[in-house]
Amino acid sequence: MTTETIDAIERRAVMHSWCVQADWRGPTIVGGDGAYFVDDRGRRYLDMSSLAECSNLGHQHPQVVRAIQEQAAKLCFVTAAWGAEPRARLAQLLLEKSGFDGGRVFFTLGGADANEHAVKFARQASRKPRGRVITRERSYHGASYAAMALSGDSRTESQVDAASFGVLRVPPPYAYRCPFGTTNDQDCGAAAAARVGEVIDGAGAGAVAAVLMEPNAGTNGIVAPENFWPRVREETAQRGVHLIADEVMSGFGRCGEWFAWQRYGEAGRPDLMTLAKGLTGAHLPLGAVVLSAQVAAPLEHTMLYTGLTYCGHPLACAAGVAAVRAYEEEGLIVRSRRLGADMRAALDRIAMRHPVVGEVRGGVGLFAVVELVRDRATRAPLAPWPTTHASLRALVDRARDAGVSFATRGNLIILAPPLVIGERELADALALLDRLLGEFDWT
Ligand SMILES: Cc1ncc(COP(=O)(O)O)c(C=O)c1O
Repeated sequence: MTTETIDAIERRAVMHSWCVQADWRGPTIVGGDGAYFVDDRGRRYLDMSSLAECSNLGHQHPQVVRAIQEQAAKLCFVTAAWGAEPRARLAQLLLEKSGFDGGRVFFTLGGADANEHAVKFARQASRKPRGRVITRERSYHGASYAAMALSGDSRTESQVDAASFGVLRVPPPYAYRCPFGTTNDQDCGAAAAARVGEVIDGAGAGAVAAVLMEPNAGTNGIVAPENFWPRVREETAQRGVHLIADEVMSGFGRCGEWFAWQRYGEAGRPDLMTLAKGLTGAHLPLGAVVLSAQVAAPLEHTMLYTGLTYCGHPLACAAGVAAVRAYEEEGLIVRSRRLGADMRAALDRIAMRHPVVGEVRGGVGLFAVVELVRDRATRAPLAPWPTTHASLRALVDRARDAGVSFATRGNLIILAPPLVIGERELADALALLDRLLGEFDWT
């Protein structure tokens, strides 16, 4: 038996994601409950980001844990090509919640492969096996090769030739720094959506098979203006191009609806959507592609040349069924909307007190972004994207010492707590943020 500590083994033997290995210094987590997780020193942290914006139900949700245990006792695995009760039940629930009557669900292992499969299905259904796919600059759709090509992510663009994957890019509806030079949200949303139509037309007749985007709030801290998604829907529908909504992060209550596109009603309905993260509340890895009836129909009588060994794993699907029931029975979608509004109001008050806050975005649901700037008037970034200013890194460390875990991306603070967070806990965490913003030098 080795006497080496777990921390030492982590440092020596494990390759950690999204970091310089030699600099890794993460906490070791041993447990959790509700909106808190617990480290190996027994310290509890209020989780203000649902870890990777995925623990929407909080940590160790008892109903989900029980469902996994019960399923494990019955049946752990069956090949994805055969049937399994929890998979069928979860597919049915997802079709019900999304209103994709007559559609089908393909289960994956997570978000990246859900997006890759959605593109495959859109191409196959539109009989354009190598059709082009339009995605946004400053977007994230996963880190496997094709998902990296789909992502407009400056951190990884040198690793993959997006054009060779048939990917075309459009500027994002980032109204605070509008790439079209507009000065208000709606104009930026309209210009960004119109560009999608122009790029489809510019690619040549029938060249584009799909447009893949997050409908509203996003991994990269952009919250699309209200008119953006319905207009993208119009642009794509007019041209017969499939629209794929990446709901990996925005789904399951994060943006105040089961799925973020639903805030626009039928005017926002995509042809396919991809899910992961909140699908099991991160209790087990699982992703899904939900196909509308129109997309599923042409695939009914053709061979489906795809599938991963663990697609739709029964344990993960059992967790998914329990998670969907928990969102429903605990009224968490509505709760997210209510607490999201409270969070937004508190952040707006914080912005008034701290000039380093350039803009607060979101708050329709428990997702908000605080963008920090060097100069509010010029909107000069605090540090060049995607780097993080030293004071913001120090703020995060100080908050963690105080028992609250905040996530940052570049100079953005991403607020996405579990939907089960208490009112008091949320208010205390935001009060801590308010205090800490006043304690650092932002020059
Ligand atoms: C919008 C979005 N799409 C896709 C992914 C990739 O999901 P996964 O990490 O499960 O592959 C993420 C992950 O952060 C995401 O936020």
